[in-house]
Amino acid sequence: MRKKFIAGNWKMNTRSIDGELLAADVVKGLGSGSNVTVAVCPPFPFLARIAQVVKGTSVALGAQNCYPKDDGAFTGEVSPAMLVDVGCAYVIIGHSERRQFFHDTNDFVNAKVHAALKAGLQVILCIGETLDDRKSNRTEAVLDAQLTGSLAKITSVELAKMVIAYEPVWAIGTGVNATPQQAQDAHAFVRRRVAQLCGDAAAHALVIQYGGSVKPDNAATLLNQPDVDGALVGGASLKADDFLAIVRAGVR
Ligand code: PGA
Repeated sequence: MRKKFIAGNWKMNTRSIDGELLAADVVKGLGSGSNVTVAVCPPFPFLARIAQVVKGTSVALGAQNCYPKDDGAFTGEVSPAMLVDVGCAYVIIGHSERRQFFHDTNDFVNAKVHAALKAGLQVILCIGETLDDRKSNRTEAVLDAQLTGSLAKITSVELAKMVIAYEPVWAIGTGVNATPQQAQDAHAFVRRRVAQLCGDAAAHALVIQYGGSVKPDNAATLLNQPDVDGALVGGASLKADDFLAIVRAGVR
């Protein structure tokens, strides 16, 4: 059975002191652990400090982006090796906000995925359709293109170090979440498509998170869907109580 995975994407929020308090509250609330994998993904400047807060606990650390080179003249960028160096286990790649505001293409996302895996990070790869895509019945075509492009030359062994987050763009930060059935349908499609790309066994083992307005009051029904293996949580991850309630919704 796939272990549920709840990750908090803090986006460009918090300052160092409240980020540390938030991480400490998550650690405290989680105690010695549960049968759910939990990670927090703070902004770059706070990673090293929050690494100290979560060190030796059942909360893992993730970053929200990376650049696909080890070192070099890439002003303003952060390499996967640097993320490993400060204690990250995960990195979110291809978030729709990066695709939308920073023009991350599927090719660039693919390069980041390869670089992150090579550095030893586990990747949370985000995909998802816009409202226009859904309204014009292009959801599966868009997911297909994102999967094919972002997973180019990824082997089944590499896929084992990856998580896919299905995040319909229209549900992110809007308070309008996908219905459990819409989420299940999309997740089942993603798993079928990944099976074609990387094989049945790898697809069966793949953790697929849902993201988009996940809150304490809707988490349980979403997480109860057979192909929904966790959640990537934005807004609700900024309040420890809400985030912990979502984690508890994933406990079996
Ligand atoms: P949200 O964000 O929970 O605030 O909708 C989710 C995400 O963008 O990962």
